[in-house]
Amino acid sequence: MKKKVLVARRSPAAVIERLAAHFEVDAVPDDRVLPPDELRARLQGKAGAYITGTERITAELLDACPELRAVCTMSVGYNHIDLAACTARGVLVTNTPDVLTETTADFGFALLMTTARRMSEGERLLRDGGWKSWAWDFLAGAEVHGTTLGILGMGRIGQAIARRGRFGFGMQVVYHNRSRLAADTEAELGARYLAKDELLRQADHLVLVLPYSAEAHHCIGAAEIALMKPTATLVNIARGGIVDEDALAAALRERRIAAAGLDVFEGEPRVNPALLTLPNVVLTPHIASATLPTRQAMALLAADNLVAALTGATPPTPLNPQVLSA
Ligand code: DGY
Repeated sequence: MKKKVLVARRSPAAVIERLAAHFEVDAVPDDRVLPPDELRARLQGKAGAYITGTERITAELLDACPELRAVCTMSVGYNHIDLAACTARGVLVTNTPDVLTETTADFGFALLMTTARRMSEGERLLRDGGWKSWAWDFLAGAEVHGTTLGILGMGRIGQAIARRGRFGFGMQVVYHNRSRLAADTEAELGARYLAKDELLRQADHLVLVLPYSAEAHHCIGAAEIALMKPTATLVNIARGGIVDEDALAAALRERRIAAAGLDVFEGEPRVNPALLTLPNVVLTPHIASATLPTRQAMALLAADNLVAALTGATPPTPLNPQVLSA
């Protein structure tokens, strides 16, 4: 008898085909986030779950779904999954790193440019009929080339952004990370390690790319923003909870920093209303990895992980490989 798996969100046909070759697939057809009760009900009797960043996998859910052996998320971030609870129960968890690195870095850099050069503000003004004539300082923004690019979280995506800044725009790259990069990687990127406070002080443009965790919660708040230059821009493509949005909105309103570009929000898809009224913030709906080729690659990697996890093979990108050897 085939094992049963759940595909929790609308997904590419190739994912369903790949999974259906091995499993009995219960694919949620409509494009909505299942409420926790419905997710729990649909996971009954399932050995595997193909999920995205919108499904929360908690200890309580795992206890209610004892047959679940693998959770494969189509995302690199996994803060929606209680990894420790999965490991303790022998549930394998996988994510989708690497395949989205360059695409996400492209977007991070685009958001930096859009924010620093006030592109969204200009487009809004133009569409609203507010473009009356040329003026020497009309929509004058911040310089990008040759300035100092600060990166908080120097994993794969942080490094890909560093390359764009250093080699594309002649920027000085400074970074802070839980662990310092190897000397040869620092040399290759031309990146200088700084303590977090010093990074905040020196960056002309600060990009947040660190993974979300309890200790990263609101790690950019009023005190941190106070260290930044009044001309600085802040870009967040990591997770909304990293930034205290009320403190950021106040700082933007009072021009204590110049501008912010945000692709992620603490209560998304709800956006803090304080941010919505500000001209100096660019808001995008969590689309940093959203190109079709990249999203397809992520989807197929998640499917490959699920096939491997439930057929005794080694999944390409496990997060708790210790479960495999247990
Ligand atoms: C990721 O892969 O973590 C992106 O944020 C999309 O969810």
